[in-house]
Amino acid sequence: MQFFPWKEQYRLNISEIDEQHRLLVAMIDRLHTAMAEGKGKSVLDDIITELYNYTKFHFITEERLMSEYDYPGFAQHRREHKELIGKVLAMMERKKENSLGLSSDLSIMLQEWLNSHILETDKKYSEYLATRGISL
Ligand SMILES: [Fe+2]
Repeated sequence: MQFFPWKEQYRLNISEIDEQHRLLVAMIDRLHTAMAEGKGKSVLDDIITELYNYTKFHFITEERLMSEYDYPGFAQHRREHKELIGKVLAMMERKKENSLGLSSDLSIMLQEWLNSHILETDKKYSEYLATRGISL
């Protein structure tokens, strides 16, 4: 069973970004499943590290795009990215100390990420590009 399936509403119609979002959602789902199944520390560490690295790469891609097309909400968007990266880092730290409570924190964070960041913040720049007739 998938906890975080890909949803059509995540689609921004920017192929490079949609592809990356698909991978991110799949990674998030894999992490959640591993936790739900009570997988060991090394499995979880690997997935979290992979998620962290891929997230950084993905945010760089988005930021490059927004800067290239002079997106007016760029600064605010980048702030949200910093916050999300900070949360992943904090989670990695907490995981080192004690995994208690990690699972519910993680679910809340990832829900926020998918439902608030992709569906609201990312949608805004894709709409901006679309209204400027930029199709990527
Ligand atoms: Fe974003």
